[in-house]
Amino acid sequence: MKIAIIGGGPAGLYAAILLKKQRPNADITVYERNRADDTFGFGVVFSDATLDNFEKYDPPSYRRITEEFAYWDDIAVHFKGTVHRVGGNGFCGCARRTLLLILQTRARELGVTLMFESEVEDETRFADADLIVLADGSNSRLREKHQAHFEPEIDLRSNKFAWMGSTKPLDAFTFIFEETEWGPFIAHAYQYEAGHSTWIFETDPETFRRAGLEGLSEQQSADRMAQIFERFLDGYPLLTNRSMWRNFPMIRSRRWVKDNMVLLGDAKATAHFSIGSGTKLAMEDAIALADALRDAPTVAQGLQHYEQDRREEVEKTQHAADVSLVWFEHVDRFWDFDPVQFAFGVMTRSKAITYDNLALRAPKFVAEADRVFARQVAARGFDVDLEKPAAPMFQPLRLREMEIANRVVVSPMCMYSAQQGVPGDFHFVHYGSRAIGGAGLIFTEMICVARDARITPGCAGLWNDEQETAWRRIVDFVHANSAAKISLQLGHAGRKGATKLMWDGMDRPLEDGGWEVFSASPLPYFPDSQVPRELDRAAMDRIKAEFVAALQRGERCGFDMAELHCAHGYLLASFISPLTNRRTDEYGGSLANRLRYPLEVFEAMRAAWPSHKPMSVRISATDWAEGGLSGDDAVRIARAFGEAGVDLVDVSTGQTVQESQPVYGRMFQTPFSEQVRNEARVATMCVGNITTADQVNTILAAGRADLVALGRPHLVDPGFTMKAAAWYGAADAYCPPQYLPGKEQIFRNSVRDRQDFEELKVKAKPKTRAELKAEATKPLAAE
Ligand SMILES: Cc1cc2nc3c(=O)[nH]c(=O)nc-3n(C[C@H](O)[C@H](O)[C@H](O)COP(=O)(O)OP(=O)(O)OC[C@H]3O[C@@H](n4cnc5c(N)ncnc54)[C@H](O)[C@@H]3O)c2cc1C
Ligand SMILES: Cc1cc2nc3c(=O)[nH]c(=O)nc-3n(C[C@H](O)[C@H](O)[C@H](O)COP(=O)(O)O)c2cc1C
Repeated sequence: MKIAIIGGGPAGLYAAILLKKQRPNADITVYERNRADDTFGFGVVFSDATLDNFEKYDPPSYRRITEEFAYWDDIAVHFKGTVHRVGGNGFCGCARRTLLLILQTRARELGVTLMFESEVEDETRFADADLIVLADGSNSRLREKHQAHFEPEIDLRSNKFAWMGSTKPLDAFTFIFEETEWGPFIAHAYQYEAGHSTWIFETDPETFRRAGLEGLSEQQSADRMAQIFERFLDGYPLLTNRSMWRNFPMIRSRRWVKDNMVLLGDAKATAHFSIGSGTKLAMEDAIALADALRDAPTVAQGLQHYEQDRREEVEKTQHAADVSLVWFEHVDRFWDFDPVQFAFGVMTRSKAITYDNLALRAPKFVAEADRVFARQVAARGFDVDLEKPAAPMFQPLRLREMEIANRVVVSPMCMYSAQQGVPGDFHFVHYGSRAIGGAGLIFTEMICVARDARITPGCAGLWNDEQETAWRRIVDFVHANSAAKISLQLGHAGRKGATKLMWDGMDRPLEDGGWEVFSASPLPYFPDSQVPRELDRAAMDRIKAEFVAALQRGERCGFDMAELHCAHGYLLASFISPLTNRRTDEYGGSLANRLRYPLEVFEAMRAAWPSHKPMSVRISATDWAEGGLSGDDAVRIARAFGEAGVDLVDVSTGQTVQESQPVYGRMFQTPFSEQVRNEARVATMCVGNITTADQVNTILAAGRADLVALGRPHLVDPGFTMKAAAWYGAADAYCPPQYLPGKEQIFRNSVRDRQDFEELKVKAKPKTRAELKAEATKPLAAE
């Protein structure tokens, strides 16, 4: 068997090693355009988990790699004169050059041919090869040659970065955020061998320009960086090695395999340096390729398996890297945060590290984050414990004169069970039990303002006395038996009206019994949906009056708060999104025009709603579709509603057009809440695949939202908040007297359960290599 590997970086060399071990008779050659020891860059990092993989797949190279490594356990965040450290991270680093020399030696020992200073122009010279591995890095020439097949997508990110080195010793993976007269600069630094550390500098394009870095030589820009980070470098110099400023290319390829050619490492996909996973991904690709080829009867099948089996893992890592890089691109959003909260945000930015997880590793840091949060609450006039504060989710919030006892919210969820718009027994039990379950705030489902404003025949309404009486009964129960506040959500279905119940076919048009529907423009939702009538001024006035009338009924019901539904493609949302608004009058065109009618409705409602009661607006912060709304639009929308008197923006996404392509995942809408909250400076509620109390605390403590709503989790667990209160020891959580024995029991048991859980977690966590190394080198007297 003949294998040609193009590129002698970590991916190419490790693939050569593993394939040669698997097929000792194979003729394997690595073609590398540089000289053997001629390598750019400084250090690379691996996690303990990656090293475990290396140990399993090739013990000799693993041993040599780990002999050369520098280990550290801590992440340190420097910001505004403070430093916060968190242990238990288990990372190690080595020089990229050392890593490559070790891999080269090992490859040679096994009989791989290494051809240096050998530039490959195209693959035709390997016509007799059974397998061609394209491991030629992020600028892969062969990927580009076959781009029509591989379909790479290269997103050059906005921030500028340069990779430098220093002789400064460091004992932690160090993030430094430095304010300068030109704007913020960030250093990502770590030691990779005795006396050497990597320093990657990053800044936004405007700061880069203001700092005059454009056009400076390598040495001049190193001097500028040394000046900026002087107090962290302690007189140690900065070193350069092709350290030019670049924009990070986020690369994804639709296909990884073409005939007998396969993309590996950075050639197929990159992961931002802030999560230190590029070399890990490259070498783990090599592992996945070797595994796939070992088990497959033919090379072609092996390559198919490689792509199928490996893709999900790569995309997961890329997603974490993307979330992290976006955080760094928008660091200005957090610049005025308290340093503890800022550091908490850095640690938890890519979702892998959470509040609970940090509480195990760095209890003092989390206790400090809790205290900072509690101080912010106290500054708003609440008398809360500042020494031993409750976890963020059990801190109160005030919107106008409405006080919410905790930060957990039952998200609005239509039950599709009303008769002629009247909520019945199901609704009574549903809302009642969720209020008793402990959430601070309960939203009703979308209550429709008129008969023809309904989505489905099962939707609830508030346009007649019977409906008002039924809602009042629910509100009275909530107030009499729980500490929860209850908000109504008012909406109009727009072009999604006259459709089937959720379980009969979401958004599908009714076959009979439908009614005429309206929208900003006459565009049907599905091609076979009813074509909506474009709202004219008379209809706009009628509907606005219906919103106000329903709100006045809501006030008579005793609701504590009101939300206007301007999301999910319903009537008001259809005005805001350019995908559904094609109007040429003053309600179409610019965002200001598209917002005009929703704001008119909001303002009319705000005027009719008691001034001491808060109002929120629900928005789709992105349409997840080409040409649709984006996070930046959401900020402008939130500002406009904020100026009109909105107290809270309920940040949802999508459901505008059926061809949208949402990117789901844990807490997938939270980044939009974070952007809206910290750019538009309005209070936000986030929602969307948030399922644990740990996530709720993580979001709140990092300043990514003010309230956290859970929809589906509350459908199966009305007592979500009470259980969390027991877990975090929030003894003040309200419980009706009838249920007190249950509360006492769960609070008692939770103390023990939590101790058991923490012990198990600590026991189950293997010692990091840094911890093992520290133990091995500890002087006897110290034991
Ligand atoms: C600023 C920065 C910091 C990083 N920090 C880290 C980190 O801390 N930890 C980490 O794990 N990763 C890090 N990375 C990522 C890491 O450098 C890459 O992800 C990793 O090296 C990818 O390995 P690779 O083998 O796929 O590609 P590369 O290492 O780029 O290797 C490709 C090789 O192919 C050769 N080549 C290219 N074209 C040809 C051709 N036509 N003919 C012959 N040879 C060719 C190149 O000379 C090169 O040696 C960082 C990257 C950057 C940019
Ligand atoms: C059954 C069901 C009905 C819903 N009805 C509404 C609604 O009436 N109004 C609304 O704004 N959102 C509605 N949503 C969206 C939820 O409020 C929430 O945004 C969504 O479920 C994502 O949150 P989750 O992952 O916590 O469930 C509904 C969701 C579900 C599951």
